[in-house]
Order: sequence, then C-alpha cells, then structure tokens
Amino acid sequence: MPSPLTPRSSPLLYLNGSWLSREEAKISAFDQGFLYGDGVYEVIRVYRGKPFYLAEHLERLWASAEAIGIRRENVNVDLPSLCTEALQRNRLSDALLRIILTRGPGDETVYPGSGESPTLLVIPREFHDLPEEKYRKGIRAVVVSVRRNSALALPPRIKSINLLNNILARREALERGADEPILLSPDGYLSESCAANLFFVVAGTVKTADVSVGLLWGITRKIVIDLVKKLGYPFEEGFYPADELYRADEIILTSTTKEILPVTVLDGKPVGDGKPGPISGSLLIEFRKFLSNH
Ligand code: PDD
Repeated sequence: MPSPLTPRSSPLLYLNGSWLSREEAKISAFDQGFLYGDGVYEVIRVYRGKPFYLAEHLERLWASAEAIGIRRENVNVDLPSLCTEALQRNRLSDALLRIILTRGPGDETVYPGSGESPTLLVIPREFHDLPEEKYRKGIRAVVVSVRRNSALALPPRIKSINLLNNILARREALERGADEPILLSPDGYLSESCAANLFFVVAGTVKTADVSVGLLWGITRKIVIDLVKKLGYPFEEGFYPADELYRADEIILTSTTKEILPVTVLDGKPVGDGKPGPISGSLLIEFRKFLSNH
C-alpha cells in the first residue's frame, strides 16, 4: 500500500464528470479540440499542495474561453473545487494542473457548432523545479524565423490549445542546437518564447515587450514586473527590435514551469559574460522568497 502522501504512479484525470486513468480517458474523434485545436487551456503550478495564483489562472482561462465563444454557463463545474479534488485524489503536493477546455464534439467541418457540450479535461501530475543546473548555467536560445501569431489572426493573448506555431518555433530552436526559441511579432518586434515571456537587461534597465506587441499576458510576467519595481531596477515595456536583445547583458524567460530562467547563450554567442547575471539572480531569489510566503 502506498502511503497517503505518495502520489499515485498513474494520476487520475478528470474528464467531463468522471475520474479516469490515463488509459481510460478518451475523447470523441469529433471533438473540435482534437480536430481543429478549437479550445483553450491553463497550466497551474502547485507548491506544497496549494495551487499558485489559481484565481488569476482561472480568470485567464475564462477570458480565453469567452474570446472564442465557449460559454461559462455550459461548463457546469466549480473549477477551484475540482482542482482541490484532483490534488487530493492523486495525493499530490508539488504538481502541475493542466486544464483543457474545448468546444466539444462538432461535425467534421470547420464550423463552430453550438458549443453546448464543451469538453473539460484536467490532467494533474507531480512536478518539481527544473534541474538546478539550468538556473546555475542558464539555457541557450535563438531568435527564430517563425513569427508569433498576429494579434489580428489568433490573438496571442488567448491561451489557445492550437500551439502549432509555437511547436514550429521550438522545432527550429532545437534544430539550431538551442533549448528555446525567441519569437518576433509579425512586424519584427521582440515578443516572447514559445511557452514563456521574455525579459532582458540593457545598461541596467529591465525591459520586456509591451503586451500590445502580441504575447500571452503571463502571470509570472506580472509577478516579475512587480518584483523588478520592488527591487528598484529601472523598468521599461516597449516595442524592441531583435538588435536590442543582442545588446543585452542578461536575458530571462519567465513562466509557470520555468519561474525565472536565465538565457546565457543567444544565437550561439554568450550573453554578457556567458553566466546568469546579477539581476536574474536576485529576481529568482526574490521570487522564491515570495513563493515561500505564499
Ligand atoms: N506556458 N507565453 C506563452 C506562449 C505561454 O504558453 C506561457 C505559459 C507563458 C507564461 O505564462 P505564465 O507565466 O502565466 O505561465 C508565456 C505554460 C506554462 C505552458 O504552456 O506550459
């Protein structure tokens, strides 16, 4: 018998009202999410049994759903309680909760249908920090040729499950020997990575792309901006060409899973002295302090 605190080796998933094993969980072949990427999602970090910034993640989920016309009244569940139940059933303490909400089954044409039976899937899994080495050494990034979606096409603000663009960007990064891609907007301004926001430091000023460049309004991004201000570093949001990044002394990616991750090699060349810089270091320390008080 596993101890009550040992996570189940195969977590139970929540799918449309049932708790199922990974093998049992099946969706319709006609699900709009499967056929067309017609849905939205969230990834929530759980520290010591407590979902981090749950309310903000759920608010963003509902905002994304509303933006594509999936109506909240058709999703008849209390999501905070569902998240708690997912953790309890799986005896999870440090975890990730992935919530996927699609328009549900349709016919096999590109037609939005009534969307009266959305598909709701919650995938919990055990998760710990990325290996400490990544924070100590930093990672490699490249500015890729794949551009971030235009805000006039699939607005990056919507956390859509249609991630083909992001996957193409990461494929290009991996093929070029890097860990993560950095994408420009269609107009050629720095936007973000494929699953993380981007910050960089030029002459002591911390900079990040303005949300109107077209990027996901990251929850970690917002926390980091508050920490940057709290620590008293000069801060700017704006429209920056790629050249600005090549001048940077420090580059940082931020996300729910990465927290505050330094990039130490850009396009094969060292960033600054090739080691994580002092500002990314103090931001990570502050972030982890903030987490321990959360
Ligand atoms: N990704 N930008 C994109 C395109 C993202 O997909 C994410 C999150 C972020 C960072 O947002 P946040 O700080 O709210 O996690 C920025 C999640 C972690 C993922 O897809 O796994």
